[in-house]
Amino acid sequence: MKLKISLIAVFALSYSLSSAQQVNVSKSFAAAAKQTDVLIKNVDSARVIKPTFVSPRTVENGQFKMVISRDWTSGFFPAELWYFYEYTKDKKWLNLAKKYTEDIKKEQFNRGTHDLGFMIYCPFGNGYKLTKDTAYRSVIVQAAKSLSTRFNAKAGVIKSWDHNGDKWKYPVIIDNMMNLELLFEATKFTKDSSFYKIAVKHANTTIKNHFRPDFSSWHVIDYDTLTGNVRQKLTAQGYSNESAWARGQAWGLYGYTLCYRYTKNAAYLAQADGIANFILSSKITPADGIPYWDYNDPQIPNVSRDASAAAITASALYELAKYSKEGKKYKAAADKILASLSTKYTSKLGANYGFILEHSTGHRPAKSEIDVPINYADYYYLEALLRYKNFGK
Ligand code: GLY
Repeated sequence: MKLKISLIAVFALSYSLSSAQQVNVSKSFAAAAKQTDVLIKNVDSARVIKPTFVSPRTVENGQFKMVISRDWTSGFFPAELWYFYEYTKDKKWLNLAKKYTEDIKKEQFNRGTHDLGFMIYCPFGNGYKLTKDTAYRSVIVQAAKSLSTRFNAKAGVIKSWDHNGDKWKYPVIIDNMMNLELLFEATKFTKDSSFYKIAVKHANTTIKNHFRPDFSSWHVIDYDTLTGNVRQKLTAQGYSNESAWARGQAWGLYGYTLCYRYTKNAAYLAQADGIANFILSSKITPADGIPYWDYNDPQIPNVSRDASAAAITASALYELAKYSKEGKKYKAAADKILASLSTKYTSKLGANYGFILEHSTGHRPAKSEIDVPINYADYYYLEALLRYKNFGK
């Protein structure tokens, strides 16, 4: 009996190793670059009509949608151009990345949103990493100062949104974990530990209040800033207050992985492991690894997927695989997701105005951006391809 069990175990292991998914990075990057050439032409045409448009966001009802720099997604397009430069080392991409990054610069002073990590850190952080241009570093530090003004010491968190004051008083969304990278980097640049301390406090408060016992997360936690207590636990973009919105789970995974990178705090690693386990043990996600938009939508399987959640998850898992005891499992899961995205979820050449991936879901409850291409899916897809390529180096 014992022998039989161990033979089965050996068979299962060798099956999973031999079935590890390969990803063709050069082919995927070449196809993505061709798409992005198309995208840039569409961006430039749209800007002739409305010069305040800076970045492409999505395609809805067949229409190409651009955004102004204040939009939370404005930084992803220039940040993608930096990834093309990182991969190709071609000056063409360097010049394009520099040009479109400039358009977001003024948001470093924006105190009206928590999204400065996405808007500023994605383009300027990648720009700084690749050029060491100190002007980029200054923008990152100023953005960290702006973001820090949204921190409330009593609640111990950074406020996410100023809108919809009738629904909540001090809303904090799980997505906000992504902005902590900007703060950690600002402390590295300036040696001013106040940014680091805010990031750590926000991460600790979020562990305490944002997660259920199975490591799924609520989307929105509303705080009382007089007492520091939680007022409400809600959703804005998920199926219901008690559901697990797919992209929220991905933001949490990525967020705690990056917190571990900067702090080496075992609690953050344990949190990332717990979230990864929630995502990867789902019996609902189809075999290709691309989740439905919300794990608890009762209409599953007749609902849209979210390729953006998959791309964020794959990218995070490549990093988490380097830190966790479950590294092999995470690497294999990320490879599976990336293989699916790069073969089954890419636009046909020239289609979708030049966006790279299809089948993301932006805001289903608002009937907005359902089963569409979207800029942050493309950004984290390129990041995942680079992390796949550099894995183990
Ligand atoms: N941060 C907003 C979203 O993930 O849609």
